[in-house]
Amino acid sequence: MLQEHKIKVLISTEELQKRVRELAQEISRDYANRELLMVGVLKGSFMFMADLIRYLDCDVEVDFMGTVSYGDSTESSGEVRITKDLEQSVAGRHVLLVEDIVDTGLTLRYLLDTLRNRQPASLKVCALLDKPARRRVRANLDYYGFIIPNAFVVGYGLDYAEKYRGLNYIGVLEDPGS
Ligand code: IMP
Ligand code: MG
Repeated sequence: MLQEHKIKVLISTEELQKRVRELAQEISRDYANRELLMVGVLKGSFMFMADLIRYLDCDVEVDFMGTVSYGDSTESSGEVRITKDLEQSVAGRHVLLVEDIVDTGLTLRYLLDTLRNRQPASLKVCALLDKPARRRVRANLDYYGFIIPNAFVVGYGLDYAEKYRGLNYIGVLEDPGS
């Protein structure tokens, strides 16, 4: 793969798969007697969600929402816009929102407010990565994979300017400005 940046491995493929499997077991237990609707937040969560659902052993339906937050490629401005909405109603459903990473928390806050208004039976959050250093609003993650330091990460669905989503690991992009 053509790489323009130096990328240092932060979370290896093996660590990712082990943790995703553990999360899937936890979720399977918690939703054993309920019909789960997993809502992936595009685009970053697509790979995490795909692996998560492979390891689940409870019934699950999936749907997706797309968001963009304005700003340059490594700093979110906090203004969030929905680019793709759900195909189904969440009213009365048990919804698990699946995010790639929670950084400032603004995207998550916006999505939770939006979904809560539609009156799901329950609403929980599963994020692969939690980057608490830059949090601007409170975010309660019901499930999370890893807490990471304040660095810009790519891979396993996460991008820098739409690149590097296909990496099998989470890496730290060194000097994103250069
Ligand atoms: P927020 O700042 O919590 O609203 O995060 C918004 C979105 O920015 C996340 O869902 C990611 O798609 C993206 N994002 C935040 N931090 C990173 C990062 O380190 N790498 C790649 N994308 C990120
Ligand atoms: Mg995202």
